[in-house]
Amino acid sequence: MERNTLKIASILKEPAEVSSSIAKDPLKFSLPFGVNSLLVCADPSRREQVRGCLKSVKNLMLKIEPKITFIETDIKMVFLVYCGDEQQICADMEKSAAQNIPALLIGNDISSSLMRKAMQYQVKDFIPLDHFSEEIGPALLLLTEQISANIKMAPVVSIINGKGGSGSSFITDCLGHICAEQTHDNIALYDGDFQHGTLADMFGAEPEYFITDALKDIQELDALAIKSIMCSNGNLSLMPVKPYSHISDIDTLNSNDLSLLINKIRSSYQLVIADLSRGLDAHSLPIVDISDVVLVVVQQNIVSIRKAKELVSQMKIRLGIKPERIHLVVNRFSSKHSTINVEEIKKAVGIESAFVIHNNYELASACTDLGRSIQQANNPKKIKTDFEQIVSKLFPISIKKSAGSTSFWSRFSLNSHKE
Ligand SMILES: Nc1ncnc2c1ncn2[C@@H]1O[C@H](COP(=O)(O)OP(=O)(O)OP(=O)(O)O)[C@@H](O)[C@H]1O
Ligand SMILES: [Mg+2]
Repeated sequence: MERNTLKIASILKEPAEVSSSIAKDPLKFSLPFGVNSLLVCADPSRREQVRGCLKSVKNLMLKIEPKITFIETDIKMVFLVYCGDEQQICADMEKSAAQNIPALLIGNDISSSLMRKAMQYQVKDFIPLDHFSEEIGPALLLLTEQISANIKMAPVVSIINGKGGSGSSFITDCLGHICAEQTHDNIALYDGDFQHGTLADMFGAEPEYFITDALKDIQELDALAIKSIMCSNGNLSLMPVKPYSHISDIDTLNSNDLSLLINKIRSSYQLVIADLSRGLDAHSLPIVDISDVVLVVVQQNIVSIRKAKELVSQMKIRLGIKPERIHLVVNRFSSKHSTINVEEIKKAVGIESAFVIHNNYELASACTDLGRSIQQANNPKKIKTDFEQIVSKLFPISIKKSAGSTSFWSRFSLNSHKE
């Protein structure tokens, strides 16, 4: 599946750069997935210059040290800035080589003996400090490409609202359960609605640990810790959100840490499904940016279609999301009660791929309260086929051999499908 490697223009304006010899022009591009990196530089002013240039690269998380003492396991690349101490830079190159972490050497006046040492330590590239802003971009993208071959990062499917109340959370919950029943893969749901996330209720969980707690501990969380803090039910897990944490934890919620968290979830699971009910905002941008599939939920009415169109145009134009990654989900679909058909919606929004989820009041209401015992279900056939279509056409999971009728549907005491 293709990943986003486009240059993207940031919606969030960066503060004006401090003028410096190398950071005249902050780099505006996006890595295809989150990469934790270590910048090693003994000289504070050079450190600031390099950091100033790299900080606007989306999905690049930067830790800074004056020299290498220990490289944490989540670090995927090292920037080594030569500040005149050959012995120290050799020790740093040796340490990154010993841990098999690719390194870029940055500096001016590098002697031929130091260059030879760099080759022996298999440093990936050399970037002159004077030409840093021109040369670092291609080197970084190439290195990221090489790293991606060795890291298993789960694909991300985002479900996003053009307009509130369109059905994103209901759809996320259903798709998560169906996926989990069709595969042995471990699936993670991410509740990105910081105002009133509802996935925990639908999941039947009473969480005590939330996304904002994870963000506070983000540097320490390893794969094992990530799995232990999520609410789990078999191979389906949920990273829950605390209601109104966008107000109560405003200082904790920053897009870099959110990227890091998503990254850590992606390396612990095989698929991440994100409910972005709030639409596009500072908290959802890092996730939309790395999503392999973006499902835009729309309903058959003029306002909803207009809002979906605006959302899609923001994603295409401002974020550089390729239209092939965007699919419409026409929710609460009814051929009887609306005269607007799917072709008209596709044309109006400017997206060629569309799926429908039929209107089914009983199922949707039951979904919000899975604590109830709901047993004697007749198969809600139409809506079941709708969800399965989306999973089979778009979801990058390996279907298990025995996947047939799923017990997920047996939880609904629906006597008939209502359209
Ligand atoms: N296909 C459907 N048929 C019937 N009712 C539905 C359907 N999809 C969603 N609903 C109902 O619509 C309401 C809104 O759904 P949901 O909460 O999933 O939307 P949302 O887009 O996440 O909203 P919000 O913007 O508030 O987060 C819920 O009461 C849900 O049960
Ligand atoms: Mg919602």
